[in-house]
Amino acid sequence: MTRAYYVTTPIYYVNADAHIGHTYTTVLADSLARYHRLRGERTFFLTGSDEHGEKILEVARERGEDPRATAEYFSVRFRKTWEELGIRFDRFIRTTDADHGEVVRRILQRVHDDGHIEFREYEGDYCVGCERFLTDRDLVDGLCRDHERPPERRSEGNYFFKMSEHFEWLAQYITEHPDFIRPERYRNEVLSMLKEDSGLGDLCISRPKARLDWGIELPFDENYVCYVWFDALINYLTAIGYPDGEDFELLWGASEHLIAKDILKPHAVFWPTMLRAIGLDTPHRLNVHGYWNVDGRKVSKSLGNKIDPLIMREQYGFEAFRYYLLRSMSFGVDANFTEESLVTRINADLANNLGNLVSRTLNMTGRFADGRVPAAGEGGEPEQAVRQAFAEAQRSVDACIESMEVHRALEAIFRAVDATNQFLEQREPWKAAKDPARADSVPTTLYTCCEALRITALLLSPFLPETAAEILKRLGLEGALEGMRLPDDAAWGAIPPGNETHKGAPLFPRVEMPEGGA
Ligand code: MSP
Repeated sequence: MTRAYYVTTPIYYVNADAHIGHTYTTVLADSLARYHRLRGERTFFLTGSDEHGEKILEVARERGEDPRATAEYFSVRFRKTWEELGIRFDRFIRTTDADHGEVVRRILQRVHDDGHIEFREYEGDYCVGCERFLTDRDLVDGLCRDHERPPERRSEGNYFFKMSEHFEWLAQYITEHPDFIRPERYRNEVLSMLKEDSGLGDLCISRPKARLDWGIELPFDENYVCYVWFDALINYLTAIGYPDGEDFELLWGASEHLIAKDILKPHAVFWPTMLRAIGLDTPHRLNVHGYWNVDGRKVSKSLGNKIDPLIMREQYGFEAFRYYLLRSMSFGVDANFTEESLVTRINADLANNLGNLVSRTLNMTGRFADGRVPAAGEGGEPEQAVRQAFAEAQRSVDACIESMEVHRALEAIFRAVDATNQFLEQREPWKAAKDPARADSVPTTLYTCCEALRITALLLSPFLPETAAEILKRLGLEGALEGMRLPDDAAWGAIPPGNETHKGAPLFPRVEMPEGGA
């Protein structure tokens, strides 16, 4: 049977531009999708925009325009940003897409017909920032914990999804499937949300049109639109052709949602219970990452510290920023962006470690081997050590991707790069070439380095696709990535001797802290 991999990002609200947080999740999803494509799996990578709801309406009002215009404006900007940054998604879904509207109506009708929905009068504290009624746990000194603003007291007749009927099942499911929500701390958080006294009840899934006329109309009551979260979560089904798309079952069974901790409750409680009512399995896995802070503070509009990925690209190159993001966050734990740590990381890992290996290898291949990959001799222990370092790197990459520890996968690859630099120091081909007693070792040394670079490029390609392609090009393997597969092509010894190599400009020039930086 074909192995499959279906990775999703949250669909982002169209009330502002993409910043460091959205960029992290999207780059992570892109890297995972690239890795699984490299393994020859049927891979689908979904991202998109969440366009309904009051949040968007608020911004549209501020901008003095129709919510359709606001949604269109920001959705197009999100999509273009990802495209410009080389994010290779398979679909960019919009909740205003016609097929999505149809799927949401179909599901609403079905769960309504099956008795999962009930009309009730309801009074509660609503936070527009969260787009939901809050429970006591969400409040700190009367303010919404996340948005630090007072909720609005609201009372209205609404439709409710009888979510709490499924809590017992859900708690048991989570306990029996310890891998469903990871890392563990978030699983425990969800289990405590499901305890009877947590105040989490049924889910209000409608908004009266009189108050909010921006959403998908309920198929069974034209006076209401669908609650934005109920609509948004369903995007994960629409995108892969629910209910009868060709690969729907294969992909759904392999679904991996990526989210940050801010939207744990909708994904870990609303969504699995909705799916149960619809008659579908839970997503395969819910992967929850921490938050990026900037200079030790929460990312916010008012602080103006959002970190625009397009500006990062201009200043440092997007691959360098992408590397920093993936390398600097441990999955599940918050991370802190500072420009200083970005500069340090670029210089240490990319300019010094990787950049040096590339330039030394290709320079010397030019000088001592006529710019062609030499044929290798037997080699000795130092050569063996390099081979082993790469075999080990490959094993770590596989294991770390499986456990979502992408930062450790990168660490492992750079350990092998470092080992190759040390190997060069040991073999000293620049001296050996001039020493008749050692001159024989030079071709083997250079072969080892060229082959190390080929495997480095292959292993790095999911994370740094442009850099990988560039390294391969300089090794005379332009375009080779398309035909490469893991694990087979990571086996040692595949670079063809005789391949023409090219020195090229420094891959990652050293960078300086910008003027006025921290
Ligand atoms: N529209 C909802 C999601 C619906 S999914 C069916 C939403 N949108 S959002 O624009 O607010 O995006 C939230 C997500 O953006 C987070 O879960 C995370 O993936 C990313 N991030 C936004 N800010 C972040 C940080 N400061 N740090 C890390 N990621 C965060 O919620």
